[in-house]
Parts: sequence; structure tokens; C-alpha cells
Amino acid sequence: MTTILITGVGRGIGHEMARQALDRGWNVIGSVRQASHADLLRDLATERFTPLVFDVRDGAAVEVAAATIEGPVDILVNCSGVIGPERQSVLDMDYDGFADTLAINTVGPLRVVHAFLPHLKRSANARILTLSSFMGSMSHAKSDRIAYRASKAAVNKVMQGLASELRPQGITVATAHPGWVRTDMGGSFADISPEESAAGVLDLCEKLELSSTGHFWNWDGERLAW
Ligand SMILES: NC(=O)c1ccc[n+]([C@@H]2O[C@H](COP(=O)([O-])OP(=O)(O)OC[C@H]3O[C@@H](n4cnc5c(N)ncnc54)[C@H](OP(=O)(O)O)[C@@H]3O)[C@@H](O)[C@H]2O)c1
Repeated sequence: MTTILITGVGRGIGHEMARQALDRGWNVIGSVRQASHADLLRDLATERFTPLVFDVRDGAAVEVAAATIEGPVDILVNCSGVIGPERQSVLDMDYDGFADTLAINTVGPLRVVHAFLPHLKRSANARILTLSSFMGSMSHAKSDRIAYRASKAAVNKVMQGLASELRPQGITVATAHPGWVRTDMGGSFADISPEESAAGVLDLCEKLELSSTGHFWNWDGERLAW
């Protein structure tokens, strides 16, 4: 049976992915940032759901959580993310907020991969998918929300490098744009529902193959330009 680990399952796309992965009959390991958020997981509580608690900025907490898991992880989805600080234009930057955005959106996913790499290596078909954004694509020259854009462009690069590094070990690595989604981050005017996005991203997870490792995908399975 497939085991998927998803970070940030307390709300948004991560919560919906966890719910739908359970519906698909998978084992789901899902993280929230604080133990007090555990009540957000009530609708996920089955014997196939394992909750973990860590903030992706806290390397020690991620390692402690990983040590509680024994079996293989087939799919790791880095879903946790933030839009970044209020002031994040190129000419008016909240630098602490920028650094925090990089810590969560860029460094955090790599930290989580490192902690769970032993579990991924126990799978016969290990896949790592990090939710990035088309806002980080180098083919868009927009300058608003530049901390967020830069953090997603950077995580694309980190994951592309990781794909090269892990290919010989048979581990597939990719990034994906989940769509413009009606969550706290995407807002109520966004294009698609969390249900549509989660279904598309889970389908993508199922289709990821080593032969196409190191690519950037749209939630509907189309390949995106970096
Ligand atoms: N929504 C969109 O339109 C859209 C578009 C493109 C890309 N994305 C990406 O898709 C992913 C999910 O987005 P979403 O719309 O579901 O966002 P969301 O509703 O704002 O949820 C964000 C999730 O990330 C978690 N998180 C934030 N900071 C964290 C930290 N330091 N450590 C661990 N977890 C943390 C949150 O946990 P708490 O509840 O504890 O804060 C929450 O579970 C993000 O990476 C986002 O950049 C979203």
C-alpha cells in the first residue's frame, strides 16, 4: 500500500490532499506546525493516518519526528509554505520577513527531504514532490511579492539539483504548481478549489517516474517552463 507523507496538513491544499489520499486507500503521514493544531486533523483520524508535529524551520524537531516513523515512505510532498511578509517589493523589503520566507519555502523542503531520506530509500518507487508556484518561474518578469517569487524560484533550483543527485538511487524528484487555489493563501477569487488541486497533485504524484525526474509540473499534469 502506498504511504504518502505530506507537510502542512492542518489546512489548505495539504489538508485536502491528506483527506483524498486516505480516500484512495493510502497510508498518510501528515505534519502540522504545533501540537495544538492536532484538532484540525479530526476528520483525518483513521488507523491509516499518522500525525507528526514540526515546524519546517526547526531541524531538530523535523529529525525527532522522522525518528518516530519506521516504515517506508513512497511519496513525500512538501506542501507547507507562506506567502511572505507584507512589505516585499524590490524597492521596499522587510528583510527579516524575506529570510523567514526563504527558511520556510526553500530551506524547509530540503530539510524535510534529508530527515526522511532513509524512509524514502526503503520504498521501491520513491518520489519527492515540492509545491512551488508559477510565480517563481523565470519566464515571468513580474516584481510584486518578490520574496515569495524568489523563494519558489530557489526551491525549484534546489529540487532540480536534488533530482540529479538522487537519480542514481532511483528516487524521483519534481516540483509542481498546484494551481491558483481558493485557500487562505490563494484567496476566495482563485481559479480552482482545494479539491480540484489536491486531486490533480495526487494524480501527478502517481504518474511521477524516474525517466522524467527533475521537472516542474502544473497541477493538471502539463509540464511547465522553469
Ligand atoms: N493557494 C494557491 O493559490 C497556491 C498557488 C501556488 C502555490 N501554492 C503553494 O502550495 C502550498 C500550499 O498552499 P496553500 O494554499 O494550501 O496555503 P495555506 O492554506 O496558507 O496553508 C499553508 C500551510 O503551510 C503550513 N506552514 C506554514 N508555515 C509553516 C512552517 N514554518 N512549518 C510547517 N508548516 C508551515 C501551514 O501551517 P499552519 O496552519 O500551522 O500555519 C499550512 O498548513 C504552499 O507551498 C504554497 O506556496 C499555493
